[in-house]
Amino acid sequence: MRTVSSINTVKRIIKESRHGSIGFVPTMGALHEGHLSLIKRAKKECDFLVVSLFVNPLQFGPEEDLDVYPRNLALDQGKARAAGVNLFWTPFKKTLYPAGFQTTIAVSQISRLWEGLFRPEHFTGVCTIVTKLLHVVQPNRLYLGQKDYQQICVLQRMIQDLNIPVQLRVCPTVRETDGLAMSSRNLRLSAKQRNIAPLLYRALKAAKKRVTAGEQHAHRIIQTAEAHLKSNPDIRCDYLALCDPKTLEPIKKIEHRAVLLAAIHIGKVRLIDNILLKTP
Ligand code: PAF
Repeated sequence: MRTVSSINTVKRIIKESRHGSIGFVPTMGALHEGHLSLIKRAKKECDFLVVSLFVNPLQFGPEEDLDVYPRNLALDQGKARAAGVNLFWTPFKKTLYPAGFQTTIAVSQISRLWEGLFRPEHFTGVCTIVTKLLHVVQPNRLYLGQKDYQQICVLQRMIQDLNIPVQLRVCPTVRETDGLAMSSRNLRLSAKQRNIAPLLYRALKAAKKRVTAGEQHAHRIIQTAEAHLKSNPDIRCDYLALCDPKTLEPIKKIEHRAVLLAAIHIGKVRLIDNILLKTP
């Protein structure tokens, strides 16, 4: 595996590997089993695998956790190497965001929903960095996890709207044995908070059980999940939303399929998760 920072070197190495397909996994580091599942799938489907590590300041709000976001380059490099990554790209902030930087990519409608209500500039930051990374790597396939469900929908919209020649592959959420979705932010949970965190997925699963039993009305499905979250006073809920799985517009009744999206705070740590629902 080669670790490279310069854009020109990345381009040169990728050009030399152009005879086969290129897979790309963008990350912000603190690699966990979720990232490794993306890497494994990409490795299976592509001839050359590029992983980037860049903690993108543009997708963090002023009050958010950019400064305390977990960082451990040596550990991540070891994991990437062991997983068979060919090129590990750690871009410099000053080349991705040169002095005077003022160009961003915004996907208007879908970005304003849910996460967008609490993190207004977040998806513009995500879309801008992903466009820039794709522009350099020009992969055949881009691998992202279902855990960030809205991110997937926003990026899929952007890829279609900008005619970016890449296939988006969405991989299932990887969970701890108690159901907590793997996330770099889990590292910031105290032992007490870590014990509370699995309630989020338990709440989503309870809602799913209700749908499987025949419930179709959003308010009752949401109430079921909410009851679980309210059972612990240390949980503060940003949103629980039953939505159309593609547009993410809220729905009142599930006709066929839906996604239940959730975001909560436990202390200073913000966790998101989701579950796909389908009528019996
Ligand atoms: O999902 C993430 O880790 C980030 O949002 C991404 C896609 C690497 C962009 O910074």
